[in-house]
Amino acid sequence: MTLDPHVFVLFGGTGDLSKRLVLPALLDLSKANPDLDFVVLATARAELNDAQYRDEVVRGMVEVGGITKREAERFAKKRLYFQTLDNDPTPDDYERIRDKADGLAKKHGIGGNRVYYLALPPGAFEMTAGWLGHTGMNAEQNGWVRIVVEKPFGHDLASARHLNAVLHRYFDEHQIYRIDHYLAKETVQNLLVFRMANPIFERLWNRDTIERVDILVAETVDVGTRGGYYDHAGATRDMIQNHLTQLFTLVAMEIPAATDADAIRAEKVKVLRSTLPVGRRDAVFGQYTAGTVDGREVIGYRQAPKVRPDSDTPTFASFRLHVENWRWQGVPFVLTTGKALRERVSEIVVTFRTPPVAFFRDVEGASVAPNQLRFELQPDEAFTLSFGVKRPGDGFVVVPQHFSFDYNQAFGEPAPAYRTLVEDIIRGDQTLFVHADEVEASWTLYDPVLRRSRTVYPYPAGSGGPQEATKLTPLVGAADAP
Ligand code: BG6
Repeated sequence: MTLDPHVFVLFGGTGDLSKRLVLPALLDLSKANPDLDFVVLATARAELNDAQYRDEVVRGMVEVGGITKREAERFAKKRLYFQTLDNDPTPDDYERIRDKADGLAKKHGIGGNRVYYLALPPGAFEMTAGWLGHTGMNAEQNGWVRIVVEKPFGHDLASARHLNAVLHRYFDEHQIYRIDHYLAKETVQNLLVFRMANPIFERLWNRDTIERVDILVAETVDVGTRGGYYDHAGATRDMIQNHLTQLFTLVAMEIPAATDADAIRAEKVKVLRSTLPVGRRDAVFGQYTAGTVDGREVIGYRQAPKVRPDSDTPTFASFRLHVENWRWQGVPFVLTTGKALRERVSEIVVTFRTPPVAFFRDVEGASVAPNQLRFELQPDEAFTLSFGVKRPGDGFVVVPQHFSFDYNQAFGEPAPAYRTLVEDIIRGDQTLFVHADEVEASWTLYDPVLRRSRTVYPYPAGSGGPQEATKLTPLVGAADAP
């Protein structure tokens, strides 16, 4: 599919997200498509002219790393423009943006295609979408118009519904791109391919053969300087409602009838609607206290900047989901995430049932570990299937061995997630973006758990999480813990 010429309007153009992820992705796009006519019109509160903004972006990109000063300068000069936008804007401000975008389009022979990328704090989504609507910038008269919304999409079911309603007042669903950057990770996309292209596993993908599924995203990073945002979000809103739930839907959904965005997203919504909201006994929460992660001293969560000293915001959450459909009834899906943990690992472990008759039961020293299929998403990118094999020698001593496949060895480094997302927005491919129904169905699972009172168990930074979580899932890094 070819990429159409367009003006990429970047709201929040001086923010961290723009500098670290969106602008480097646009630079990559420019490098890969030198003849593509596109320009970036960034907006932010700062009083900058085009040249000053370019200098700031070049400095930021070089600081982030991986980009030379020369290529950043070339990109900035060829593609980047800036327009100041007050925090409390008037219609005139938006009209100025519209006119500048139109002027640039004319100058570069681009036409009417527009991307509006909201790299903004979530509180500003509604207002920005509203002004785009009021000034007619949402209309697809002379080309396509697409709006891109970053996460978090709402902070509960009601606010997500409200935000969807506001967006739908001005934009059709086919124009709305809700980002979940996990969907653009190659290893995550491979979950779909793995299921669709390998029927030998698909036949086993059900309650008859599978005992449980564990989805883990463990981080070693702590909250750092993000306390202002994180203390209102916590692990459920920051990671589970979006990233881990996306992983869950890809593993649990039915195989779609086609590979287009609508068919895939419809199946994801169906499995979410077959899943029960998280029950009281299916949730464990934790919060890290001071400790050491990878030899680095970490202060306790409550001592972090902008965190309330008596905060009960969880930095760790583990939920057991129950899917009430014919394929999965009775198979627990355990979703676990946490910050300041012992190890950084994202993986999905599918545990198969053990043999119905324990043939080796009476043999001394023998036990049969279940077959496991492990999708390692990051930092290692691989999958592994474990088998029990006979250890040579007397008797039937069964030990696990693995078949594995390593992504990087086979294909080299994957493309960064934001490059894939930016390209898909311009192509008009919504497969890796979250549909309105999907986001609401996902909030439905967690809304009750967010409202209920809860116990938040402390765990030292650098540990495997709170001991209480073992009732749902093994502790992070338990296998290699001293
Ligand atoms: C973000 C969360 O969406 O994802 C962060 O806000 C988290 O808290 C990050 O650290 C994890 O992303 P990745 O790609 O590093 O696994």
